[in-house]
Amino acid sequence: MAFEEEPQPLKIYFIPYLAAGHMIPLVDIAMLFASHGHHTTIITTPSNAKTLPTTPNHHFRVHTFDFPSQEVGLPDGVENLTGSTDLESSWKIYQASVILRNNIEDFVEQNPPDCIVADFLYPWVEDLANKLHIPWLVFNGFSLFAICAMEALKAHPIVDAHPSGSFVIPNFPHHITINSAPPQFSKEFMDPLLTVALRSHGFIINSFAELDGEEYVNYYHKTIGHKAWHLGPASLTRRTNKEKAERGEKSVVSVHECLSWLNSNPPNSVLYISFGTLCYWSDKQLYEIASAIEASGYGFIWVVPEKKGNEEESEEEQEKWLPKGFEERNREKGIIIRGWAPQVLILDNPAVGAFITHCGWNSTVEAVCAGVSMITWPLHSEQYYNEKLITEVRGIGVEVGVAEWRISAYRENEKLVSKDVIEKAVRRLMDGGDEAERIRQCAQEYGKKARQAIQEGGSSHKNLTTLIEELKQLKASKSLQ
Ligand SMILES: *[C@@H]1O[C@H](CO)[C@@H](O)[C@H](O)[C@H]1NC(C)=O
Ligand SMILES: *[C@@H]1O[C@H](CO)[C@@H](O)[C@H](O)[C@H]1NC(C)=O
Ligand SMILES: *[C@@H]1O[C@H](CO)[C@@H](O)[C@H](O)[C@H]1NC(C)=O
Repeated sequence: MAFEEEPQPLKIYFIPYLAAGHMIPLVDIAMLFASHGHHTTIITTPSNAKTLPTTPNHHFRVHTFDFPSQEVGLPDGVENLTGSTDLESSWKIYQASVILRNNIEDFVEQNPPDCIVADFLYPWVEDLANKLHIPWLVFNGFSLFAICAMEALKAHPIVDAHPSGSFVIPNFPHHITINSAPPQFSKEFMDPLLTVALRSHGFIINSFAELDGEEYVNYYHKTIGHKAWHLGPASLTRRTNKEKAERGEKSVVSVHECLSWLNSNPPNSVLYISFGTLCYWSDKQLYEIASAIEASGYGFIWVVPEKKGNEEESEEEQEKWLPKGFEERNREKGIIIRGWAPQVLILDNPAVGAFITHCGWNSTVEAVCAGVSMITWPLHSEQYYNEKLITEVRGIGVEVGVAEWRISAYRENEKLVSKDVIEKAVRRLMDGGDEAERIRQCAQEYGKKARQAIQEGGSSHKNLTTLIEELKQLKASKSLQ
């Protein structure tokens, strides 16, 4: 990445949460500020620091604090939500982040920056920023659309949800029916965090204004009365294949093998299936997914949880989640990836015709950039809102039709989504026809818009310039006091 020299650089600290989905995009955004010549420092822990990009940019620094492994009772080296596999460890990671607070506060107070960009899960940054009289910006990796929906529900709580749990988002620019109601505890956890975030100087969004749309940019500014800057898509800031493959963790498959297999397939003939990093599945559900993939007859790359199909797995265990003989029959047809996949590279390949996704925002934005249409299968949290942005609002995907908000990423769903339902959604996009063609074209247009947004004069580029100017003014007015 090219970088500029800036005569009056800002000093900005970034404090990402200890989970890949939060950390990767925020680090990319930090790199953007560094590439404009501002001094950026990422504050994290040693094992998380290992995944950060190695860059020749001297404006980009990392400051680490030892992870309190012993205090919270996690093994050495497990310092993020990718390394943790259940609710208990995710709680321990959260505890650790609370313990790290004192260290971070001391460091920041002794070396005060001009601005802090912190994850939404660190509400205490508010006091720190106020004490230092500096602005603080919030990041949570959500779409602005999802933040608007959450805020609308906070302001006008639902009293008459349908017995099925579905409800209409009140006082919203579009008439949107969400398929499943958030569990009470999820609101109880999120709402206070959102209240604090709305007292910050503004939200940073990993997306571009055209994707959330003018309606929601205006709704946020005027109705909610808070600022938001669209600075993404963050994933587009990585330009080379090596950089793209290194986004996050090292892939578990040979990137070369995967790409040359894709290259041997015709355009739009392969289905890519991945549900993100934090996902628990029952064997029965995996079995239905496998059966649907096979019945559809399309090529596939399917990312399954890491534990599945390792060497220790017996045939009997395997047959619980994978139909007998599946791998032999589909040797030519597809690839099963156990663990981390080079997702950006896969999505960018013309062979990929559709992406079955959990609608996590990180994955959604990557698909939008690649112009790939989506088959939506939300599991929990804001994914239910993202689904509607993808399907009803922007028309770049179709729903599988799930209506069950998982209590946590580590719990399986109660209702099984059957092979037939999955296959039907797959065919809706992959079999062609007018609807599929319209959706595919629309997805490609948004892919173009994403690229334009980050170029000079594009919406995200302009939002970044405006934000930097504003921060400089705040700095100048502070030094006058
Ligand atoms: C975030 O991005 C990486 C790298 O592109 C992707 O592989 C991963 O699945 C995403 N993580 C989440 C939590 O969605
Ligand atoms: C997460 O932690 C694991 C160790 O458990 C480490 O290998 C990995 O690099 C970390 N990943 C990210 C994205 O921070
Ligand atoms: C970001 O860009 C959009 C689209 O150009 C614009 O409507 C919005 O006002 C900008 N946001 C800020 C905070 O300047």
